[in-house]
Amino acid sequence: MNRMRWLVTGLCVAGAAGALWSLNWFAGQLYPNGDAGTLAYKPGEDMPPRVDMASVQRDWPASLGDPGEGRRLIAYHRDMRGKAPALASSAGGAPAPAPLDLGTLLASADANAGKAKMHLCASCHAFSQGGPNRIGPNLWGVVGRPVASHAGFAYSPAMKAHGGSWTYDKLFEFLASPARDIPGTKMSFAGLRRPEDRAAVIKYLASLGNGGPPLPAPSPQAGQ
Ligand code: HEC
Repeated sequence: MNRMRWLVTGLCVAGAAGALWSLNWFAGQLYPNGDAGTLAYKPGEDMPPRVDMASVQRDWPASLGDPGEGRRLIAYHRDMRGKAPALASSAGGAPAPAPLDLGTLLASADANAGKAKMHLCASCHAFSQGGPNRIGPNLWGVVGRPVASHAGFAYSPAMKAHGGSWTYDKLFEFLASPARDIPGTKMSFAGLRRPEDRAAVIKYLASLGNGGPPLPAPSPQAGQ
């Protein structure tokens, strides 16, 4: 009888071990590299927008230029979402929005709100008259100033090669994503995603120095 009990116990243990082993084997088939718990995007990371990229590409308004493909499209879309809000939900074929009117945006921008945002720039830029160059050049009077022209600052070759002046338009593009606007720039700043924030910062910058060039006129079609 004793022997029988040992035999049963032994069989049970062997059976349990076998079951465990096969479970393990099965899990191995499901998650061959063993990192089933790793998310493609960690929470808090900038996730790609959950939109149908094919439809965004199809419905892209010609006036916004070539959206490109894949990651570039995602980045471009993410940025353009602010400019053309209807695009984010355009999977249903909503009418293409009018291109953003910077004149209208600047007219309603609040320079004080822009000043409050300047803490994002202050770690690298001084913006007082006669202030020093820091990691970036002094920004006093930068609106209307020729690109890469502040005395005593060692600009990147990309910035030096850019040419032209800092118009409202150019600043608006640059501040959205410096590295995308001027590849090779050494301004390592992700950019201000919201068009309203950019307009406010630019309006504040224009209030420094000689007041900057006249604001672009709001488009008469704005708001239609
Ligand atoms: C991490 C540091 C850093 C931050 C933050 C930063 N910048 Fe810059 N910025 C730079 C550097 C460096 C350059 C020079 C870029 C080059 O030469 O390629 C620059 C250049 C510029 C220029 C071109 C100036 C010229 O003389 O041609 C403008 C305009 C500018 N920054 C605006 C801003 C604004 C506005 C902010 C805040 C919203 C900001 N930057 C935040 C480092 C920074």
